[in-house]
Amino acid sequence: MQNLLNNLFPARKNKEQADDLSPETWQKRLSTAALGRGEVRYAREMTSTNLVLREMAQSGAAHGSLCLCETQSAGRGRLGRSWHSPEGQGLWLSVLLRPCLPPERAPLITFCAALAMAKAVQDFGVDARIKWPNDLVSQGRKLCGILLEVSMAAEGVDYVVVGTGLNVRKGAYPPELAHQAASVEDFVAPPPRAEILLRYLAHLEDFIARLERDGLAGIAEEYHALSCTLGSRVNVTGAATLTGEAIAIGDSGALLVRTDDGEVHRVLAGDVSVRGVMGYV
Ligand code: BTN
Repeated sequence: MQNLLNNLFPARKNKEQADDLSPETWQKRLSTAALGRGEVRYAREMTSTNLVLREMAQSGAAHGSLCLCETQSAGRGRLGRSWHSPEGQGLWLSVLLRPCLPPERAPLITFCAALAMAKAVQDFGVDARIKWPNDLVSQGRKLCGILLEVSMAAEGVDYVVVGTGLNVRKGAYPPELAHQAASVEDFVAPPPRAEILLRYLAHLEDFIARLERDGLAGIAEEYHALSCTLGSRVNVTGAATLTGEAIAIGDSGALLVRTDDGEVHRVLAGDVSVRGVMGYV
């Protein structure tokens, strides 16, 4: 009887149904050639979508496979940090890529993911910018983090797992982090997560194709336009510690920072944290 009513009156879907992430609700509407069309695993809970997808990759899952869940019990962030992933509050997602790229270009996929998610949320009215290398921020607060894991084979890149944690609802981050974290819902009425997912996959496929074809040059203009780091004064901490102006992105994706003595330093994403001298951005 309930099914009959739902079919007759789809507008009566409750909030939870409207934000359903299960593949049946979105897979038929994919506009991509490959992303989202491989093996797709969705569950209420996973340890970490990156971890599960890496196991799938090692068992031969195809380019475009993905994992997504409602909550992660061991969500992971950059620099060995954990990632808060409360149930139903975000888009906790990982995409498997087997790109045609020389190994030194694989880290640049992180820029493609940042651009793709920035464009996806911009499509819904959120003014997202990219804090180098790949945090999405809006009004100075972090909206999305990206964790890239690359596996090499003798002949080049074997696979890349691109994990994104997008805060969609206000409950995605703990209240004590409200000064530096944000969610889509802080700026607009949040669209169903599946809609953001569909846009993200379409943009990601486009940026990856450009990177494969033209290298960094294929995505540089858009990355520069959306970067809130370039042109700012930044503090770099971690393996390197310095303060200076972020002046450009190098070929391999390194941030070029000019210190006050005029020297230009290449900062690699893997081992540093970069913050604006005035705060998080
Ligand atoms: C960061 O530190 O900014 C990166 C955070 C990445 C979080 C996402 S959530 C989905 C995927 N699975 C994980 O365990 N981490 C990434």
